Amino acid sequence: MYINYVSLLDFRNIMSADVNLKNGINIFYGPNANGKTNFLEAICICSTGRSHRTKNDFEIINFNKDESHVRVLINDNTSKSIDVHIKRKAKKGIAINNIPIKKSSELFGTLYTVMFSPEDFRLIKDAPYQRRRFIDIELCQISKVYCYNLQQYMKVLKQRNELLKNIQKNTNLKDTIFVWNKQLVDYGINLIKFRKEFVNSLSNKAAFWQKQITSDAEELSIVYCPSVDENDFYYKINSNIEKDIIFGNTSFGPHRDDIIFYINNKDVKIYGSQGQQRTAALCAKLAEIDVIKENTGVKPVLLLDDVMSELDKKRQNALMNCINEIQTIITCTGIEDYIKYYTESAEVFYVSEGTINKAN
Ligand SMILES: Nc1ncnc2c1ncn2[C@@H]1O[C@H](COP(=O)(O)OP(=O)(O)OP(=O)(O)O)[C@@H](O)[C@H]1O
Ligand SMILES: [Mg+2]
Repeated sequence: MYINYVSLLDFRNIMSADVNLKNGINIFYGPNANGKTNFLEAICICSTGRSHRTKNDFEIINFNKDESHVRVLINDNTSKSIDVHIKRKAKKGIAINNIPIKKSSELFGTLYTVMFSPEDFRLIKDAPYQRRRFIDIELCQISKVYCYNLQQYMKVLKQRNELLKNIQKNTNLKDTIFVWNKQLVDYGINLIKFRKEFVNSLSNKAAFWQKQITSDAEELSIVYCPSVDENDFYYKINSNIEKDIIFGNTSFGPHRDDIIFYINNKDVKIYGSQGQQRTAALCAKLAEIDVIKENTGVKPVLLLDDVMSELDKKRQNALMNCINEIQTIITCTGIEDYIKYYTESAEVFYVSEGTINKAN
């Protein structure tokens, strides 16, 4: 799969851009604060329906405008188009092949992307929420069933938590909690099953990359740590009702899951050096590409936002070797050595004050 065209209108500081991309390496370079990440963000929105930076769509619209528009054309044996209209005063509109869709989640599976930005290096140290988000974004891309279960689970969880707070004020409502318990467990068990399989597969693939990069010295494994075992979920949720009412919160379930990274059987979060944490995060990202390929038969588009300069030569090479057969969009501030090597075969663009021009 590759993107052959991106057009932007009033998207953050990019007032207008028409960019033809090649099915290979595309490099966007330019000084800080000129629009490079904004360009990748636009592609990300076309892939997942959401920005990777903000939950507030209106932030994306240029300060002086009321609407933003992104259009991408994709080649994946057939041609597809995705249009996203973000409006200040109305709901965002999305269309696939010019046909509007009702929910952003219908977009999943149209454009597969893997985004790697400097924040991802913190994946292992970050709060569990970020690691759950990492899993959810990938699983939603590869499975509509997962995406549906996740949406329903979060909806039920929200309603159950509201009810718990209401029971604090009115104990007569307590009997109604069992309806929510049943639904929460049904959707939750599905999530646990998907996550178990996904993390297992991710772990095997990430271990391969870690071995490559460390010349077999480091054995990486990624372990899924569900907040509750799928077989105990119903029992635990029912036996913790009193505690949940006191806290006004649901104490067990996939919304409390985590994953743990081990190198040579030691928890990387606790014992790993900064370099090991970064490498493990990089390998998890590389593994993501493999998982998408394996599950969908489609090669995703890789978006690398200024990460190369944060990697040493060996890791840069590992990354570049892995991307030789997928479309990659790289942003960087300058044409450094590792980039020069590829500029012959790459399409190069210069980004300056919100304008994007071909540079080769
Ligand atoms: N809604 C908006 N309207 C207009 N400009 C915006 C809006 N949101 C952000 N910007 C501006 O976009 C500019 C470029 O942002 P971007 O993150 O793309 O920079 P960058 O080229 O990736 O820089 P860096 O190399 O520092 O990462 C920023 O200066 C920011 O102020
Ligand atoms: Mg940037």
